[in-house]
Amino acid sequence: MKKPTIFITRKIPTKLLEPYSDLFDFKMWKKEDEPVPREVLEDEVKQVDGLLCVLSDQVDQSLLNQSNQLKIVANMAVGFDNIDIDYAKKMGVVVTNTPDVLSESTADLGFALMMATARRLNEAAQYIKNGQWKNWAPFLLAGTDIHHKTLGIVGMGRIGEAIARRAKGFGMNVLYHNRNRKREAEVKLQASYVQMEELLSQSDFVISVVPFTKETNKLFNKEAFEKMKESAVFVNISRGAVVDENALYYALKSGEIKAAGLDVFEQEPIKSDHPLLELENVVCLPHIGSATVQTRTEMIELCLKNIATVLEEKAPLTPVN
Ligand code: DGY
Repeated sequence: MKKPTIFITRKIPTKLLEPYSDLFDFKMWKKEDEPVPREVLEDEVKQVDGLLCVLSDQVDQSLLNQSNQLKIVANMAVGFDNIDIDYAKKMGVVVTNTPDVLSESTADLGFALMMATARRLNEAAQYIKNGQWKNWAPFLLAGTDIHHKTLGIVGMGRIGEAIARRAKGFGMNVLYHNRNRKREAEVKLQASYVQMEELLSQSDFVISVVPFTKETNKLFNKEAFEKMKESAVFVNISRGAVVDENALYYALKSGEIKAAGLDVFEQEPIKSDHPLLELENVVCLPHIGSATVQTRTEMIELCLKNIATVLEEKAPLTPVN
């Protein structure tokens, strides 16, 4: 009998596929630095049973309509705003994501970005590389303290909680806002639930960990930045589209807020002439929230386990639809 075929939209280590080689035929897009072209994806999806894709692949109605025997889309990300999950459900296609395995690494990156932004690490590293370091001076590259400040976490999911745990180690006062109040987390993490307005106006650091949805589209807009302290540092490790980037640019340029650390952007990859890149008070990263070798490996392994369970007609481990 013919084995089910799985198409993998990025080059991944083939040794991760070995445990499944008796079960499936794998096809993979092999160019390291180039995403799979849409027409190739549209062509491949016609004859596959499973798709292992990444957050930049748009699995929309038109792609799903090309499929004939697709049973599972395993997204190598916790976020799944790149997939039309309702339409997939209508077509009987299971969609899975990769929660949990990436929470700690993503929280580490969120914290690192917050610290790099507050303590001006990029500027400082560049300063020394440029040969500008001639003297020690009392306020040379002086930044903002993190310890004992107030951190506002917007989105208290698994990653939000992991950030709160780290913040406690820094003696921070933790506020959070979430669709649903999470009383257990409040006790466990000594975090206080507040309305969004209060979070924005009271926090020294505001970090976005919300998924991108209709409700969070441009949640951080002109009004939101106006409510923040002038000394506030804004950090986004969720999705770029939760921020109105023009409003953020204006807020940073005009001194309405102090600085921003961004791992995600509305359009990715960000263009090198993007206005936010001109600003000294912004630290930008190329969407590396979960990018450790261990975590990315575990994400791929979870995708493969989900594919295997669905194709064996068992319940997926981490379904989203
Ligand atoms: C996710 O998994 O959604 C992250 O953004 C990937 O780093």
